[in-house]
Amino acid sequence: MSQLSTKHLLGIKDISSEDIQLIFETADNFKEVLNRPIKKVPSLRDITIANIFFENSTRTKLSFELAEKRLSADVVNFSSSNSSVKKGETLIDTVNNILSMKVDMVVMRHSSPGAPHFLSRNIKANIVNAGDGTHEHPTQALLDAFSIREKLGDVAGKKVAIIGDILHSRVALSNIFCLQKLGAEVMVCGPITLIPKHITSLGVKVEYDVQKALAWCDVANVLRIQLERQQIKYFPSLREYSLYYGVNKKMLDRLDKEIVIMHPGPINRGVELNSDVADSEHSIILNQVENGVAIRMAVLYLLAGAK
Ligand code: CP
Repeated sequence: MSQLSTKHLLGIKDISSEDIQLIFETADNFKEVLNRPIKKVPSLRDITIANIFFENSTRTKLSFELAEKRLSADVVNFSSSNSSVKKGETLIDTVNNILSMKVDMVVMRHSSPGAPHFLSRNIKANIVNAGDGTHEHPTQALLDAFSIREKLGDVAGKKVAIIGDILHSRVALSNIFCLQKLGAEVMVCGPITLIPKHITSLGVKVEYDVQKALAWCDVANVLRIQLERQQIKYFPSLREYSLYYGVNKKMLDRLDKEIVIMHPGPINRGVELNSDVADSEHSIILNQVENGVAIRMAVLYLLAGAK
């Protein structure tokens, strides 16, 4: 198989483990390209891609743009904060206006869950979901699993604890789908108020004690507290959260094994993760960012082939 089973990448829930393996194998090749003195290939030189971001981003936006440029695509960037969205233009009108300028693919981040799915039903271009509200962040999960595979040789059979604000996290949901499809065991850990009630129906373990979660896992993926999505108080204070759920070096020193530490970024240092762990030899956080470019090159390249 050399083609994805889908025209869009809307979520990990919708793709197969074969799709994920194909993305990884393609990303392996692009990672090799990225380590060459000339980091560019002509693969998408006839393709125009619009990056449409209705929500803030550093890593995902830059990573997609770099991936597109490394593939020789023409790139246009749209940010809602300085656009006619502020004058009341709808999502469909905004995207159709961009597409009428002969754009082939749309990479979109939006605060509403399902926005890229809605778009895929209404426009012809390939859509890549770069994060839709609290729903999915498929390329983040792919680069996370790819980074585990790179560090530990395989994802199958590994135990991954996702620690933090699970309730508001699109990274958590996409990671659960991706890791399970690749044969890993997944645990979620956080305060009871930040764990969705029915999460066990996804086949994950639930742990409320972070030290026990660290003792169980091979990999801890630590997530940010998403204060911008919290309309009510889920815990008394950030200081208290950090005291009970912040991962620090003392906790890792208590373990009788080495574990891998991940974080999708942005990190709130001293809240969910201390610098003595984030910057330690246990951390593969910057490898995740590096791998994001190769993974996004692979996704764009394969979707362009699916046209
Ligand atoms: N990991 C992630 O999505 O980061 P950004 O919000 O900076 O894109």
